[in-house]
Amino acid sequence: MLPSIGKFRQPAPLFRGAPHTYGVPVIASEPVIELANVDLTLASRAGQVAILRDLSLSIPAGDSVAIVGPSGSGKTSLLMVMAGLERATAGHVKVAGHDFSHLSEDGLALARGASIGIVFQSFHLVPTMTAQENVALPLQFRGEADAFERATELLGEVGLSHRLTHFPAQLSGGEQQRVALARALVTRPRLLLADEPTGNLDGKTGRQIVDLLFSLQARRGATLILVTHDERLAERCHRVIRMADGRIIETIDGTVAA
Ligand SMILES: Nc1ncnc2c1ncn2[C@@H]1O[C@H](COP(=O)(O)OP(=O)(O)OP(=O)(O)O)[C@@H](O)[C@H]1O
Ligand SMILES: [Mg+2]
Repeated sequence: MLPSIGKFRQPAPLFRGAPHTYGVPVIASEPVIELANVDLTLASRAGQVAILRDLSLSIPAGDSVAIVGPSGSGKTSLLMVMAGLERATAGHVKVAGHDFSHLSEDGLALARGASIGIVFQSFHLVPTMTAQENVALPLQFRGEADAFERATELLGEVGLSHRLTHFPAQLSGGEQQRVALARALVTRPRLLLADEPTGNLDGKTGRQIVDLLFSLQARRGATLILVTHDERLAERCHRVIRMADGRIIETIDGTVAA
């Protein structure tokens, strides 16, 4: 139902099933993301392409991290690996207490539904559903009875109480991204992954979305991983990870908080 990510990708569904059927205990002091020696190699017409190379990182819970780097350096691919939408070819991936290498596709979808919210540059809303239905969707997949009440509440938090019954095509870009933000956060995920969430918005609207993103993250105590080309935006995160050619080339800790 959701569009594919990038030209070649066929991602697994973002949400599926009930999270209570998948009960991995989460230890609070553990890092929320741990990657060890991760390689991602994908097939292309020209043969195998090394997308991520020997990548290791550890992100503490509650942190805000910007991933920056030139186009093609592997930022989106890294986010996809963290989301379990792309499987590492080698190495270990542990996210929110889930060891991704030991999970089936269904297990990955359940882990994602339980612990991860994702925001894309191009919103990825379901066009035939209203704002309220889009936000309620991940809760409905989990079989939660109060999906619509919670969707309404969260749309209020992002300032869209007056747009509940609008379809995506009837919303501005900034409004669509606010719906996408509400959808990503409605399940109260521990981890929020955002891939250039302001890339399709004008400067002012983009800044509003970013302010909202940081304030929701702080209020929820979630961990935020933000891919961005905007260095000033990156500086608002606690940590900046710089990528080039599928590798981490620099990590700057303790940058100015928002
Ligand atoms: N399915 C695929 N098969 C083969 N190569 C791929 C595939 N997906 C991505 N790539 C290649 O992997 C590299 C990293 O892509 P990725 O989308 O992660 O870059 P990025 O840093 O997010 O770039 P941008 O800033 O332009 O969004 C690119 O060279 C891209 O062409
Ligand atoms: Mg990208």
